Amino acid sequence: HAETGAAGWLRYAAIRNPETLRRDQALPAGVVLLDRSPVPLSAEQELVRGVRSMLDRTLRIDDTLPEEDAFVLGTASEIEGALPQARAGTLQPESFSLSVVHAHGHAYWVIEGGDARGVLYGTFRLLAKMGTEQDLAMLHDSESPSAPIRWVNQWDNIDGSIERGYAGRSIFFDNGAVREDVSRTGEYARLLASVGIDGCTVNNVNASPKMLSPEMIGGLARIADEFRPWGVRLSISVALNSPQTLGGLSTFDPLNPQVIAWWQSRVDALYAQIPDFGGFVVKADSEGQPGPSQYGRTPADAANMLARMLKPHGGILLYRAFVYNHHLDWNDMKADRARAAYDIFHPLDGKFEDNVVVQIKYGPIDFQVREPVSPIFAGLRKTSEAIELQVTQEYTGQAHHAVFLIPLWKESLDFDLHADNRSTTVASIVEGKAFHHALGGFVGVANVGLDANWMGHPLSMANLYGFGRLAWNPELTSAAIAEEWTRLTFSNNPEVASTVDGILLHSWHAYEGYTGSLGIGTLTDILHAHYGPGIESAERNGWGQWFRADHQGVGMDRTVATGTGYIGQYPPEVAKRYESLATMPDSLLLFFHHVPWNYRLHNGQTVIQYTYNAHYAGAEEAAQFMTDWKRLDGLIDDERYQKVLDLLIYQSGHAVVWRDAVCNWAKSMSGIPDDRGRVGHY
Ligand code: GCU
Repeated sequence: HAETGAAGWLRYAAIRNPETLRRDQALPAGVVLLDRSPVPLSAEQELVRGVRSMLDRTLRIDDTLPEEDAFVLGTASEIEGALPQARAGTLQPESFSLSVVHAHGHAYWVIEGGDARGVLYGTFRLLAKMGTEQDLAMLHDSESPSAPIRWVNQWDNIDGSIERGYAGRSIFFDNGAVREDVSRTGEYARLLASVGIDGCTVNNVNASPKMLSPEMIGGLARIADEFRPWGVRLSISVALNSPQTLGGLSTFDPLNPQVIAWWQSRVDALYAQIPDFGGFVVKADSEGQPGPSQYGRTPADAANMLARMLKPHGGILLYRAFVYNHHLDWNDMKADRARAAYDIFHPLDGKFEDNVVVQIKYGPIDFQVREPVSPIFAGLRKTSEAIELQVTQEYTGQAHHAVFLIPLWKESLDFDLHADNRSTTVASIVEGKAFHHALGGFVGVANVGLDANWMGHPLSMANLYGFGRLAWNPELTSAAIAEEWTRLTFSNNPEVASTVDGILLHSWHAYEGYTGSLGIGTLTDILHAHYGPGIESAERNGWGQWFRADHQGVGMDRTVATGTGYIGQYPPEVAKRYESLATMPDSLLLFFHHVPWNYRLHNGQTVIQYTYNAHYAGAEEAAQFMTDWKRLDGLIDDERYQKVLDLLIYQSGHAVVWRDAVCNWAKSMSGIPDDRGRVGHY
């Protein structure tokens, strides 16, 4: 499957609709680029490539404004010089404006960028409009990114394996070093840039200290060279004990002068070879990773020490809030992993340097199919924040189930935490707007691999695409993102678009239905691959992903009144809603409350009966995806048709495995039969 999947959404398929074609043939025949530096140069080449592929026309490259219609690409000051009539007003960095300007009797199609990246992003947007057959006659569009940080994290190990990666080995590393051939990293950067992603952290958050060795830094510089033409900055994850394990010091105490000097030498070495180096991501005191707590220091002590060195170079320090004790006491009814981020980071608010960003998973546990938003988003008023989303489908079916995650992410981003009794959505917080943070943004754990189609499941690419689009503009709807991706990836044929969109837009709900409903959390096998049912593997151990099921009832009591008190970490209005069963949404009930199996939901069903019904309905939906997909036979290329069909057949079968495992377990746990007689009768 070398060809079709490799291009992702940048296929630039030939436009066949005669009406669109006629319209687009009237586009200019030439392009002039006013600045020939690497990023705008990529934009020009991309425009030529896209137009050639979609319209079978080769654009003429002009050096100066020609005496005929032309595409004109440049930053604000260049446009001002060449075509003052076209100036779009003030454009922020990374922003762009697209317009058709009539001057000297000609039509100039102007792509103006607030900076070099803006030119590139504007060009990709124009190509996407062409690729989705929009009418360009009234071209007038001006866009700015929602926030400066729009990064992906890769969890690649230096031996070439990828933690929670489902599409082959690393495009970056092999055998302890950066790969000889890093050409795929440039192709990856192009995909990222096409949806406005401007940074990539190339190695696992469980970082190897060897990332800071001189040989490795040399290798990283080669990757950065591949990224640079696409405006993607390279960054790395670092292990805080590196001064000891790699540097040979006797300590890694972040306040020790020798430790500080060691880190400074590494930062200097990085910037000497990678002048646009983005910064560090830190996972510390988490799941066995070394951290400042070993020396009685705080996350702020460690973060600030590194941030001060990065600052003169414009680098940033992302410190992950995923810090928790994984040796919790199951018998302690007050113990609660969900509390950890708030308990640890809230007291540190205001103590971080201004180039530190706290990177927060959307929910307080770990990328589950449904979680409430993490309360720490409202708990940091004077500290920049980024939301961490998981593009790689670790807990959501890996590369075997079609699960479009944009609706899940939208629920988090749109959630209003009502801090200070005013509207403060998670999106507005991470954009930096709600609390006037200096920085902020979006991080997606992507984990693409060497497989030709990048993510294993052809439909998983919609999540990478959607991550970029949402990071750019979190107000886009799930439906709009699905539609765009489908048209660019498969076809503008309305039958294809509506079929694929239908599957995507129902897939999260279906997966939640057949794996774990009502906010129960993870019923997957947490001790091994995080794949397939492993119903009680989350109970009775120190990891704290508990749902506390017994014969009487199910769910974690996180109330202030009788439970772990977690609900008290939310701003009052939200806390009040979650504390009371009367206002508790069904979808999250078991995350917050322990209730009897025959407790009646707002939707009128009991918890046990809903559990049965949801799992049956989810599995039926999965089977329907398979049937729906068959409508595409002959309408798309055979290769992807067959690959996705095979996966959907598998998914519909695995959904039944999930359904039966959970329903049988729930029945034996509760002792209550299915009132429709399905469970336990085959
Ligand atoms: C999850 C995942 C780990 C990862 C961790 C993290 O727990 O299973 O592989 O290291 O998240 O985000 O740090």
